[in-house]
Amino acid sequence: MLKTYNIKMPHAVYGGENTIENITTILKNGNVKRVALFTDKGIEDCGLLSLTEEAIKAAEVDYYVLNDLPPEPTYTDVQKLVDQFKASGADMIVACGGGSVMDTAKLASVLVTDEYGVKELLDDPGLARKCVPIVLIPTTAGTGAEVTPNAIVGVPEKELKIGIVNENMIADYVILDARMIKNLPRKIAAATGVDALAHCVECYTSKKANAFSDLYALEGLDLILNNIMAACDDPEAMEAKNRMQIAAYYGGLAITASGTTAVHALSYPLGGKYHISHGVSNAIMLAPVMRFNEPLCRDKFAAIYDRCVHTDQNCTTTEEKSAYILAWMEKIVKDLDIPTNLREFGVAEEDLDGLVDAGMQVQRLLVNNMREVTPADARALYQEIM
Ligand SMILES: NC(=O)c1ccc[n+]([C@@H]2O[C@H](COP(=O)([O-])OP(=O)(O)OC[C@H]3O[C@@H](n4cnc5c(N)ncnc54)[C@H](O)[C@@H]3O)[C@@H](O)[C@H]2O)c1
Ligand SMILES: [Zn+2]
Repeated sequence: MLKTYNIKMPHAVYGGENTIENITTILKNGNVKRVALFTDKGIEDCGLLSLTEEAIKAAEVDYYVLNDLPPEPTYTDVQKLVDQFKASGADMIVACGGGSVMDTAKLASVLVTDEYGVKELLDDPGLARKCVPIVLIPTTAGTGAEVTPNAIVGVPEKELKIGIVNENMIADYVILDARMIKNLPRKIAAATGVDALAHCVECYTSKKANAFSDLYALEGLDLILNNIMAACDDPEAMEAKNRMQIAAYYGGLAITASGTTAVHALSYPLGGKYHISHGVSNAIMLAPVMRFNEPLCRDKFAAIYDRCVHTDQNCTTTEEKSAYILAWMEKIVKDLDIPTNLREFGVAEEDLDGLVDAGMQVQRLLVNNMREVTPADARALYQEIM
């Protein structure tokens, strides 16, 4: 029987140089009266918000900045900002930031109503209805949150991060302006770039993989594997940075059409309990989970080799090609100086039981993993990174 699959996308996407200026037309055409501009203090401090503000001012539209947001917010952090947003009376949301800012703005776009809050959406994501249109401008490359129907929040009482998924949170407009990631600090570029790599490779090897997701996941892998080092290491490598921005967007599309697997599932407790950033926790889990999956994903890794290796490497068998791709991903994490174990995050041997329990709760993603992950497998995988 043929698989069925679908993909839902934003109404319009603008990519390349100086694309932020499109905001002016979007606001004028939409007859917008007041914009809620979501961001965080990190973005403001490095002067990145001014380009967006100028474009809003050019449309002669009133705007209100909401910036009181920590990285990787909890659902109560998000609710606080949503309450401010509801009081602002805005009829359009523009969000300029990384995944934390974009996810918060996406939740706000479905939360103008008093009928439910973020907590209720955690219990029943199906409640979400779009109330206000939204423009997303990613400043990391990245989560792909600009294109997915997902918003991820910390839930301290469960010591987990939980994804709220509803297609009403898909953006109306996305702006991929290369200037936004030009001066991205190396550490953030590395962690968020490996997050995008994880999205593409997990979605390509997911049980949910299909023709639509494969298209974006494979192209994303080609762009990331061949550009991530230059994009992170060379401040002037604008072509490489632009390719990473596009690849992160493709990774988000791959998530929308397919789904991530055990890397993301087992990384959620690392973020939820130990506050390891999303990109770093996925980077730590990437090699162990991919090695665990390899026996059932060998053909897929070989296909990634055929598509993404553009130099003479002389791998001929499926086994050799697969091993090459695993080693390449592992080398990227190492060369970007991202931690590869939990030692420096204060995780102790006695925390293992809690990690396994919390990781196994993320069945939403574990069921996508090609190889079944039992509690004993999860324990062995966490043990590998202790
Ligand atoms: N919705 C989704 O589909 C999805 C997918 C993956 C991850 N996420 C979520 O996204 C969040 C992580 O987002 P992120 O990795 O983009 O980081 P982030 O948004 O948490 O930002 C991290 C830090 O980088 C700073 N920063 C961002 N862009 C910058 C720039 N251009 N220059 C200088 N500083 C900059 C921010 O101010 C912040 O201090 C997590 O909560 C994660 O769970 C969501
Ligand atoms: Zn991710």
